[in-house]
Amino acid sequence: MSIPGGIVVLDFGSQYTQLIARRIREQGVYSVILPCTVSLEEIRAFAPCGLVLSGGPGSVYDPGAPVCDRGIFGLRLPILGICYGLQWLAHTLGGKVERAERREYGPAQLEICGSSLLLAGLPKRLRIWASHGDHVASLPPGSRVVAATESAVAVMENPAQQIYAVQFHPEVQHTDRGADILHNFVFAICHASPTWDRRYFVQHTVESVRQRVGKGKAICGLSGGVDSTVAATLVHRAIGNQLTCLFVDNGLLREGEFAAMLPRLGRLGLQVIGVDASARFLARLAGVVEPEEKRLRIGHEFIAVFEEEAGKLGQVDFLVQGTLYPDVIESQSVRGPSATIKTHHNVGGLPDVMQLALIEPLRDLFKDEVRAVGRELGLDAAILGRHPFPGPGLAVRILGEVTPERLQILRKADQIFTDEIRQAGWYEKLWQAFAVLLPVRSVGVMGDSRTYAYTLALRAVHSEDGMTADWARLPGELLERISSRIVNEVQGVNRVVLDISSKPPSTIEWE
Ligand code: XMP
Repeated sequence: MSIPGGIVVLDFGSQYTQLIARRIREQGVYSVILPCTVSLEEIRAFAPCGLVLSGGPGSVYDPGAPVCDRGIFGLRLPILGICYGLQWLAHTLGGKVERAERREYGPAQLEICGSSLLLAGLPKRLRIWASHGDHVASLPPGSRVVAATESAVAVMENPAQQIYAVQFHPEVQHTDRGADILHNFVFAICHASPTWDRRYFVQHTVESVRQRVGKGKAICGLSGGVDSTVAATLVHRAIGNQLTCLFVDNGLLREGEFAAMLPRLGRLGLQVIGVDASARFLARLAGVVEPEEKRLRIGHEFIAVFEEEAGKLGQVDFLVQGTLYPDVIESQSVRGPSATIKTHHNVGGLPDVMQLALIEPLRDLFKDEVRAVGRELGLDAAILGRHPFPGPGLAVRILGEVTPERLQILRKADQIFTDEIRQAGWYEKLWQAFAVLLPVRSVGVMGDSRTYAYTLALRAVHSEDGMTADWARLPGELLERISSRIVNEVQGVNRVVLDISSKPPSTIEWE
């Protein structure tokens, strides 16, 4: 959903790109990330008031180094280059970038040596956070240095051309007053208006969905999770009963989920049809072990079910999905070189030829921003506070083949884990807590008899947005109770282990 007057961030592949957009939205200005390879028309379609060029992992001299269309200079918009963005600007505008003798990684001291709109109101010295191997050896014509570190040009600018660039990362918390630097760019240089907030987002999205759908019909795949519920509620506000929601039981839901969620979703005023498609999903998964293959098959099956159901409703033109920014970034590279981590079914699992056009109103947002939009829509805390649950469901929590027997084991164990976490008051403190069934059997002893049964892993994490996560330090007594209940109550499990990995290097889900 484009909102005019915002800031477009062009992504050169930095791990911090999403933080830039987020920091700008936190200042009340809409911001969206586009790949650096995007066309000028696509940038113009957003009608931005400024551009930010993100950092990136490479050097401007690497073969295949990411570039963007030089035509951005003709858009007559203020530009802020960050790290690689600065180097690309220096290199492209006729300066010289070279490999630094002293690389800067981590904290550095910034000395401001000139007056600049970008640095207005800041003290002369600041602690900043840098991460670069190359530096600017000579400036492009017309540019000047307004701040430096001991070993590099830290801020250069050409105010006449509205070009500003910083060698460090104002978007990370380790940079002092980084938010002020972005604030100066957004307001003093781009003259943006602080119009972005949840209410504005809701109004704007409702209006643009209404215009796009016209008198057409849409369906929405609803899972009862936060994202799809917020997406459906937004679209319902725009087009009312031209929207039909489908809650598909793919056979991979948690214990009692389908039966419990259906009436709850109906109470939101949404028109919801429940579809039991469990048998066909499980048939598609028979014998499949490879995680990406599971995800793709599930994604395709979802679309097949949506298209069949849409066919029963007459002419349906649109499919609404609750895709979020982390789904997009981890499923496909926003630009070329960033790696595909997992194919989130609602992004990468879509077939090349699909009859329905996609509406993804939350595509640029993070989970906590979606929860804020949900609160604006008046959704109740019980729905908004739910832990995320992946589209491919328990299939990515059963390592190896998904079978009815394994599903039953995992459902029971997961229910015990969740119940205990809730009772202990931990549910709200966690981003997610779930059980994972491993395809590993080990020997145990129960009531004097030998057992040879599965191992179950417990995963509980803290996270702000799902992009990074740390394992939760659950109390020992709670873990002990959970372990003993699972081994005693779930037939087929004789060992419980705790996952103590962070993301990165691990991911939250195991597949
Ligand atoms: P990972 O495992 O990639 O997960 O660290 C990050 C967050 O995303 C959720 N997740 C998904 N959500 N469809 C979704 O809607 C998916 O295919 C999917 N895969 C992972 C995961 O539960 C975690 O919160």
